[in-house]
Amino acid sequence: MEKKEKVRIGIIGCGQIVRLRHAPEMAALSDGEIAGFYDFVPEHARELAEKYGGKVYDSYEDMLKDETVDGVIICTSNNSHAPISVEALKHDKCVLCEKPMCVSLEEAEEILKAEKESKGFYMAAHNQRFSLGHRKAREIIESGIMGKVLSFKCTLAHPGPERYSINRSSSTWYLKKSASGLGCISDLGIHKCDVLSYMLGERFVSVGAFAGTRDKKDENGNYVDIKDNAVCILKTESGILGSLLLSYTNYGGRMENGEVIYCEKGVIRAQYYPDCVLEVKFDEGETIRYMNKENPTSGVPEAFVKAIAAGGESPVKSEAAQEAMKVVCAIAESADTGKIIEL
Ligand SMILES: NC(=O)c1ccc[n+]([C@@H]2O[C@H](COP(=O)([O-])OP(=O)(O)OC[C@H]3O[C@@H](n4cnc5c(N)ncnc54)[C@H](O)[C@@H]3O)[C@@H](O)[C@H]2O)c1
Repeated sequence: MEKKEKVRIGIIGCGQIVRLRHAPEMAALSDGEIAGFYDFVPEHARELAEKYGGKVYDSYEDMLKDETVDGVIICTSNNSHAPISVEALKHDKCVLCEKPMCVSLEEAEEILKAEKESKGFYMAAHNQRFSLGHRKAREIIESGIMGKVLSFKCTLAHPGPERYSINRSSSTWYLKKSASGLGCISDLGIHKCDVLSYMLGERFVSVGAFAGTRDKKDENGNYVDIKDNAVCILKTESGILGSLLLSYTNYGGRMENGEVIYCEKGVIRAQYYPDCVLEVKFDEGETIRYMNKENPTSGVPEAFVKAIAAGGESPVKSEAAQEAMKVVCAIAESADTGKIIEL
């Protein structure tokens, strides 16, 4: 890929995550600019074009045909991630796609195949890898000062996507299997399966899970067809044992979004949100607090734009996203079959 002074990015899907993260972070970059927006609800795209500049495209195909566009950020419902990513790669665009990568392992294969034949690259928007706390935790584990990692526990629990998606109601696509895929297992689980593997520097090889629809109801008052809670056990290739709780029903409390990593020489506690916290407590008593404030930005659009500008490689590769998809699909399979799944 050749170098670029100013990278032009189109944004597809103009809901909550674009409003909170991608559009403001893109607009703040000196080496990137927003070419325009597309959403199948045109009003959503118009609102953002008015605020951040750029044109409103009539379709994502029109955006992909625009030769001035170097890359696209895909922030639509999960079921459309793979078809749009594949189409964008066919048009030689670089792709930054929100998580989860897709809704099936077959779709993940299609994305990797399209990327091999493309001049563009695929980046997964696995923002938790960019958190200062998680990066530091990875560095500490890699350095060996905590000794061997033995086990972990991890939680990602909030009160449900109907409280933050642009459609603030129980009819949101997040609560429908046809659009979401695996519900909280992939929506929340993909973050943690990816970032745990990133921090530990190891693949997961074995998973088991219980999952259920404990509380969420649709617009007609019936239980939704996705899982709203999952409790998982995981094992890595060197034998690290961990638990993972994923929940859409953390009512009344603060979001829980963090990890406790138990090592030979002490404990590492990481929290991603609301504040980025990293605390290392050694067995002998010393406690080091590395940070205790919000991450300044997600760092994701910046990494995407910088990689395109430099003519470089994807900062979060498709293979890593595919690996995380394999783990969440195994969690879902274990919950369905009652069996431990080997990866
Ligand atoms: N990385 C993170 O921390 C994080 C956080 C929130 C959401 N997300 C991901 O971002 C994506 C969007 O989430 P959101 O909360 O913004 O959802 P949202 O419901 O608030 O917004 C989605 C927008 O996309 C549009 N849309 C949906 N499908 C489309 C399609 N096929 N073509 C064109 N427009 C389409 C909708 O009209 C809506 O404006 C999801 O995949 C979600 O998992 C990631």
